Amino acid sequence: MKIINLSMECYPVAKVGGLADVVGALPKYLNKIEGISACVVMPFYDRSFVHQHEFEIVFEGQIRQNYQHFNVQVLKEKNDVLGFELFLVKVPGLLDRENPYGYWDESQQFLAFQHAVLHWLTAQQIRPDILHCHDYHTGLVPFMIENCPEFGFLQGVKTIGTIHNGEYQGQMKWEMADYFPWYRSENAGLLDWDGVINPLAAMIKCCHAFNAVSEGYLHELFQHFRGLERLVQQEHAKAFGIINGIDTEVWDPATDEFLDFNFNNENALQGKSENKKALCHAYGLNPDLPLFSFIGRFAGEKGADLLPEIVAKAIQSTGGALNIMILGSGDKRIEFELTELNKTFDNLALELGYKEYLSHKIYAGADFLLMPSRVEPCGLNQMYAMRYGTVPVVRYTGGLRDTVNDISRGGSGLNFGSATAEDVTHAIHRALHIYYEPGMMGDLVHSNMKFDFSWDSSALRYLDLYRR
Ligand code: ADP
Ligand code: GLC
Repeated sequence: MKIINLSMECYPVAKVGGLADVVGALPKYLNKIEGISACVVMPFYDRSFVHQHEFEIVFEGQIRQNYQHFNVQVLKEKNDVLGFELFLVKVPGLLDRENPYGYWDESQQFLAFQHAVLHWLTAQQIRPDILHCHDYHTGLVPFMIENCPEFGFLQGVKTIGTIHNGEYQGQMKWEMADYFPWYRSENAGLLDWDGVINPLAAMIKCCHAFNAVSEGYLHELFQHFRGLERLVQQEHAKAFGIINGIDTEVWDPATDEFLDFNFNNENALQGKSENKKALCHAYGLNPDLPLFSFIGRFAGEKGADLLPEIVAKAIQSTGGALNIMILGSGDKRIEFELTELNKTFDNLALELGYKEYLSHKIYAGADFLLMPSRVEPCGLNQMYAMRYGTVPVVRYTGGLRDTVNDISRGGSGLNFGSATAEDVTHAIHRALHIYYEPGMMGDLVHSNMKFDFSWDSSALRYLDLYRR
């Protein structure tokens, strides 16, 4: 069975968040199964991974968008260093930039990517069994292969759409139809939702099956889906929930090269303590105090806007008897407020920006990881934290609900109900109680490290879906 994954991100080529981790791991794990060949196709990025590895050009062609012609090149990584074949689609002027998102013409970039991929597969007569589309950026593909004569060769190929984040749907005004040379007005209903082109809605309508990245999140989408509730209810027969796994080869405290001290379950307490000391030393924190952490995008979904209040409340209400380390970037107002607090509170360490190495050090060195998410389709942070013996303190929502049970129910972490600074502070106080209860923290470290979140089982669930 041949599976082609289409995605904007893939670790370690280009990563903004968990989408990259999933796309960089799932095909690798699928390829371990006999008879499966899974690869990844993503845009070309002007990035170090691309410069440091060998690529060969496997296709050259041209696409037309809004009466303009663009050259297309497909490059293949020569040595399969990632455990799967990696193809980069280069469209000079559109798909040759540094970052996956944030450009004024990103709708056109995503369109060009989808168009170029289908043009290449059609021209070279490459017909996979499954085209697996990730998020709305590739959500038009199921529509395109069924409705555009240009890609007729691909008609009937089975398509799966994975919703990593339903908050983003990629809506475009109908004027953008000028960029779809293959658009016919009789198909407008398949693209339209509430009067605009909605790529995520089009994906749900046109794919053979779609899944959310946890059962819990799928369940929530039926109630809250930024206007697509009715659609997902209509299409419920092809909706699935599959929890993400983690790449336990990349995320292994025993071999992780970013750590100051490697450890396994046997020497976990010593290992965590050494990593904590190194981290605290680097940021001027007292390692004898419990260390809480947050890693992630500064966005409303993640509850990051609550962080300034959480920091102030937690430090003040404990008389400074804890430390908080925050790594993240995004919303400028949150960055500013935290920067100001950092000047006031010695118990706060703040690192703005995207720093892969530091995230590993924090998962290893922290005692607790805070996730006050308003929306969390799956969440990988809590699984990385547990693998590194850190206790997750999470809001009871989406994928967090499926992966972290409260300790009062025999679980591995702490749950709280609402995304408010009060609820988070209350959970922090509960966590402190655990921290100082003799033996309790050590037991949690050991039991959390034993959890099996590896892709092995989730990859089989995708395989099952592909086979259907
Ligand atoms: P999302 O994809 O919604 O951002 P996930 O929990 O699925 O959330 O995945 C986030 C991924 O991005 C994790 O691998 C996490 O460690 C990483 N990450 C997030 N922010 C940063 C940052 N500032 N520096 C390094 N890694 C980060
Ligand atoms: C999205 C979600 C996150 C999920 C990730 C990978 O970015 O916000 O919860 O873990 O995709 O599926």
